[in-house]
Amino acid sequence: MQKLEVGMNSTLKKAKLCFPATSRNRAAILHVLRQHLPAKGDVLEIASGSGEHAVYFQKNLPNVIWRASDVDPAHLASISAWIEYESLDMPKPLDLDANAEHWKLPEDEEIRSVVCINMFHIVPWKSCLGLFRNASTVLKGGGKIYLYGPFKINGKPFPQSNYRFDQALRSQDPNWGVRNLDQVCLEAENRDFKLSAITEMPANNLSVVFEHKIKTNNDNSPM
Ligand SMILES: C[S@@+](CC[C@H](N)C(=O)[O-])C[C@H]1O[C@@H](n2cnc3c(N)ncnc32)[C@H](O)[C@@H]1O
Repeated sequence: MQKLEVGMNSTLKKAKLCFPATSRNRAAILHVLRQHLPAKGDVLEIASGSGEHAVYFQKNLPNVIWRASDVDPAHLASISAWIEYESLDMPKPLDLDANAEHWKLPEDEEIRSVVCINMFHIVPWKSCLGLFRNASTVLKGGGKIYLYGPFKINGKPFPQSNYRFDQALRSQDPNWGVRNLDQVCLEAENRDFKLSAITEMPANNLSVVFEHKIKTNNDNSPM
């Protein structure tokens, strides 16, 4: 499924992974990111996978600082290899688990947006909740979360291809599966994120953007 490419342009042998879907979806995702992400500031990508998206977005959004991350050591190595291959001045990828108790970030890092592509359906639900919990801590108010992937929408037909994908995921791991967007939005709301945009994407995927509510003094006053 994944093609392994070995680069020898450094003293270390580094493996650049190639995930075929990234070259199919990256331009459409970039188009939506341009509409919703702040023009400047730090973006934290959770579950960056091969790192192909990260380098593509960094090249095309030169005014943001793209910080990639993942939990898988092979993926972290691949992200670093892609950054080196593209000779980009990007921060090193972080070993971050969506469901970690706290995301440990470098002290001076002020994250304006969190991006997470194709992760919600291949992690247990608690990791989806972890993403909102941790994002609400690092975004401080006013920041955005961008999610991309397949979702079920109440009252709308579930496309056959997504239904089959959901079944395949659940047979691989009963904790995985295509998430219901209403439930995702409810959990986002519980962490002070309001839904700000849904965009239909190729291959029955969605882009979903949430905005962190900025707390006013009244919000903080005792009830
Ligand atoms: C289907 S891949 C998507 C990768 C990339 N975003 C893309 O679209 O090509 C899912 C990624 O989620 C990562 N992942 C799995 N569990 C995770 C977790 N708990 N926290 C962060 N990343 C996780 C995997 O290592 C993998 O890189």
